[in-house]
Amino acid sequence: MVLVMQRPRRAKGSSSALQPGRIGPLELANRIILPAMDMNMCADGVITDAEIAHYVARAKGGAALLITGSGAVAYPRGATSRKQPGLSEDHFIPGLRQLVDAVHEAGSLLCVQLCHHGKNARLDMIDDRSVLVPSIPEGRPDLSALADCTRSELTQLAATTAGRAPRFHEATEDDLVLAIDDFAEAARRAREAGADAVEIHAAHGYLLSTFLSPTDNRRTDRWGGSLENRAGLIVEVTAAVRAAVGSDVAVLVRISGQEFGSEDALTTADATASAVLSAAAGADAIHVTGYGTNSFANFTDGPLPEKIGAYRLQASAIKSALDIPVIAVGRITPELADEMLAAGDCDFVSMGRQLLADPDLVQKLRSGRQEQVRPCINCYVCVEQNFFDEPPICAVNPALAGHLPPFERAESSRSVLVVGGGPAGMEVARIARERGHRVTLLEAGTRLGGTAWFSQLTTPTNGPLITWLEHEIRRLGVDVVLSTRADVALVRSLAPDVVVVATGANRGRPDVSGAELPHVHTGDDLRALLLGEGFHGQPIRLRGLARLARAFRLTSDAGRIRELTRRWMPLGRNVVIVGGGLVGLELSEFLAVRGRNVTVLESSRHVGVPMAMPRRWTAVRRATEVGVTVVRGARLNEITTKDVGYELGGAEHRVVADEVIFASDVCPDSILGDRLAGLDIEVHTVGDAGEVGYITGAMHSAWVTASKL
Ligand SMILES: Cc1cc2nc3c(=O)[nH]c(=O)nc-3n(C[C@H](O)[C@H](O)[C@H](O)COP(=O)(O)O)c2cc1C
Ligand code: SF4
Repeated sequence: MVLVMQRPRRAKGSSSALQPGRIGPLELANRIILPAMDMNMCADGVITDAEIAHYVARAKGGAALLITGSGAVAYPRGATSRKQPGLSEDHFIPGLRQLVDAVHEAGSLLCVQLCHHGKNARLDMIDDRSVLVPSIPEGRPDLSALADCTRSELTQLAATTAGRAPRFHEATEDDLVLAIDDFAEAARRAREAGADAVEIHAAHGYLLSTFLSPTDNRRTDRWGGSLENRAGLIVEVTAAVRAAVGSDVAVLVRISGQEFGSEDALTTADATASAVLSAAAGADAIHVTGYGTNSFANFTDGPLPEKIGAYRLQASAIKSALDIPVIAVGRITPELADEMLAAGDCDFVSMGRQLLADPDLVQKLRSGRQEQVRPCINCYVCVEQNFFDEPPICAVNPALAGHLPPFERAESSRSVLVVGGGPAGMEVARIARERGHRVTLLEAGTRLGGTAWFSQLTTPTNGPLITWLEHEIRRLGVDVVLSTRADVALVRSLAPDVVVVATGANRGRPDVSGAELPHVHTGDDLRALLLGEGFHGQPIRLRGLARLARAFRLTSDAGRIRELTRRWMPLGRNVVIVGGGLVGLELSEFLAVRGRNVTVLESSRHVGVPMAMPRRWTAVRRATEVGVTVVRGARLNEITTKDVGYELGGAEHRVVADEVIFASDVCPDSILGDRLAGLDIEVHTVGDAGEVGYITGAMHSAWVTASKL
């Protein structure tokens, strides 16, 4: 059955994303959909109140259709977690019905995602069952990225499969007949629970997509070989699900518009052909995602892309072959949503992480408050928890999944002095103001953002968060005072009820011979120069850096600095970065693509550890691809005017260095906090000034502190 989309009634003067639209039997209030995201909040497959609260928040926020995280059609067989929704027995229906009713009452429609996890079914591994695959995989997966996981991370990863590797079972005809029936029965249960739609998960390396993908499917029977055969399982499942739900429940099919990372991976042409077959089998819409074939290597190609509008081309290609709606996904911002919808690249957009970061997105767009939307910063903190079978944590929205309770209005208004205008200081100021306090924020530099502003040079996705925080504190009426360094006397003279210290971290120099040489810089040196903050009493170490400062102080635009440094940067050719954490690793790539020979010396066995795992794996891969030499376990011995000496595995090594940058030895700047501690004033410390935790630590500690002021 192929349905022709009804012409939408366009609301006057509003964006394309806010126009109503139709999917099969469903009238959607707008074009914004919450895609499936595992919340890992179920109890042995049963929906919990906490999970319902998560979806209700997004329904109240205005997303037209909410798709549940992957539900296991054959639970516990073919399932990945006891915390995902089970769909295999009728006793799961009441919980689902509660969810559907709550979402309806809050104003949205609900779709249940139907999944068989195939080779990724961690419960099969835990329960010592074999996992279902089209063909037994050849060779071993490349797990080299795990070398940069800590022991604790590896322990958590192993626990999700009880330490067991998968035992593969090549699906027989009987297995597939059962799987098709499992999907149909699960769909029937979703319908009985009152769901408006079901989505067949035929992407992301799970059972149905492994049949479609030539990488996984090397069968020679009726399920392998030609595209028609490889798509056969998706087609038969779609037809069975359609028959099970009738015509008043919409059937969505989610496919990868392209797979990335192996030569024989699924092409967009094959994905398009399979979408046409799914439509003919009864799909009401196709949801186009993408997939990197090795989650431990190219997860940031898919399913969680780092590129904005990552699958736009694939969605557009598939749409041009169909006359049913296409849903696009992949870091779609509100601006891009409008552009893609207006260009006819898709009919609906899914926004995943953006709706984790801000459940009220649609309401804000509706009321013309787009700049109030809290941006997702693409940091992968949320999905890292999925690797550990835990509910997601959001770096910028601490309330996600009930991680921290929402804040309430304060009983009485107090005067709050915040010292430091980085993310932690601004977030404290924002929440304190929202709660009704009178807030003054002092910042030593000439602009807000602190180290996070500087980090935009290497991590542009941090920029929108700073813009959002600044916009919010100004909108809410925080009294912002720039170029003012707080000391005890100033704090006393302002006589606040409470002081919140958010002075960030110091980046020091290791105690090593040569650390004071003029070509040796700390992250603070570079930052102070670029932000025009001066050197806090230190002499300018390098003429070139002074020139850099003069040039870049002229611009307040991080994007422009990024571009300018591609053409000119007064740093010598050979750069050694000491410390391979978040800053060191990202800086290494930044410098390498600007023509520098970069060596990163990391004392521990792992690099990039402060980054969430998928981001870290990509950062390490990319640094290596652009020629950065990463040395793990290197003990710094000395720095001379020509080179850096270090020890590795008992042997002495030397690497030529025109510049040395210390990106290690980050420690809280507790000076002001310590000085204020003796006074008769209520003092709190947030962000890196208390404990180095980068943006996640800043936003979460600010939330905790500001909630109790
Ligand atoms: C925490 C998390 C869990 C996810 N779980 C699922 C899932 O259960 N099923 C699925 O099809 N996609 C899942 N995804 C992928 C999203 O549906 C979406 O395709 C992806 O996040 C890209 O969209 P975005 O860039 O708007 O976030 C998950 C994503 C996240 C962040
Ligand atoms: S954790 Fe990071 S990537 Fe995930 S939703 Fe929040 S900001 Fe976005």
